Amino acid sequence: MTKGIFNIEKFQRLSTPFYYYDTELLRRTLTEIKTEANKHSNYIVHYAIKANANTKLLKIIHEAGLGADCVSGGEIKAALEAGFPASEIVYAGVGKSDWEINLGLDNEIFCFNVESIPELEVINELAGTKGKVANVAFRINPDVGAHTHSNITTGLAENKFGIAMRDIDSIINRALHMKHVKFIGLHFHIGSQILDMSDFVALCRRINDLQNQLEKHGISVRHINVGGGLGIDYEHPDKSAIPDFKAYFDTYAKYLKLRHGQQLHFELGRAVVGQCGSLITRTLYVKQGDTKQFAIVDAGMTELIRPALYQAVHKIENISSNRSTEIYDVVGPICETSDVFAKDVLLNKTYRGDLLAIRSAGAYGEIMASQYNCRKLPKGYTTEDL
Ligand code: LLP
Repeated sequence: MTKGIFNIEKFQRLSTPFYYYDTELLRRTLTEIKTEANKHSNYIVHYAIKANANTKLLKIIHEAGLGADCVSGGEIKAALEAGFPASEIVYAGVGKSDWEINLGLDNEIFCFNVESIPELEVINELAGTKGKVANVAFRINPDVGAHTHSNITTGLAENKFGIAMRDIDSIINRALHMKHVKFIGLHFHIGSQILDMSDFVALCRRINDLQNQLEKHGISVRHINVGGGLGIDYEHPDKSAIPDFKAYFDTYAKYLKLRHGQQLHFELGRAVVGQCGSLITRTLYVKQGDTKQFAIVDAGMTELIRPALYQAVHKIENISSNRSTEIYDVVGPICETSDVFAKDVLLNKTYRGDLLAIRSAGAYGEIMASQYNCRKLPKGYTTEDL
């Protein structure tokens, strides 16, 4: 039996819970990204590895020609192992350790996105020890809000990320006087799961103002990196399987005033892999509470923490059943009250043994899994594995 994109017979043979990645959808998504980005000659798209570092997915994404956006030494290693050339790796993060900076320097990655003056000084010093010059961009905190969950906004003055707008001139001047760093660009990222294009418009306006201000001081910039943040439709994973990349790239084309020869970089994570992944879990028990009916499944917040951490909504389907629907709370086995995937959702009548698919879990799912309660980390299978 197949239900939607799922081949239940094949799933029945695997031990649950596991992640399933529809690589055909991933490939179509990547084609759409390339088609839309290539309409603009100076757009460069990086994949934000933090969203999902599954090696099979990384290979497909690299083969499609995206660069890599990393936030740790581990991610730099994963990117290199998957074949991303160092010259297409950008590296951000508020707290880079010395070994991570050295790894970036040894491999001569394209750019360090620097988040503070103390970090700039350490990169200059470590690069000096190696007799190298590191490309640096400054991550600016543009103080632009995004209409998304407060745990995933990053571009407000109160957030820990980036350098305040008022300090830009002084940090650029510091860099221009250092021997082992080369200032090449500005970096921004205002948050994640953004569906309202006006948030990106606000970012464009901030960047335009900043560029005008810098030019008055005779400073020009070769690379602008606007980070990622494009959201996906969690409620309609089939109808909106591919995000609206056209609207996204066109927003930047319309509102961001790029200077001659400037390159515009993007760091997309969720929009690339979010819709291609589902968490497949088996129903252990159906329990009748006083006021509720619980479907207790074998996946928990250990496999997918997003609902517990951000009150995230993921569509859930009973892929073993076409029976009439009933209302359930879908909960995991972890000893935490917040180990709930969804409350009061409609599922085809569910019995012990039924497989459920928790959809739109390709981004920040498997990669954020933990071993709490001494559980095993989940496996990830792709269409080609089955
Ligand atoms: N660039 C930077 C500097 C970032 O901090 C992020 C995400 C991205 C790019 C990619 O953003 P995306 O295109 O995926 O929105 N765990 C949360 C999301 C955290 C996002 C962190 N930064 C979640 O599950 O919703």
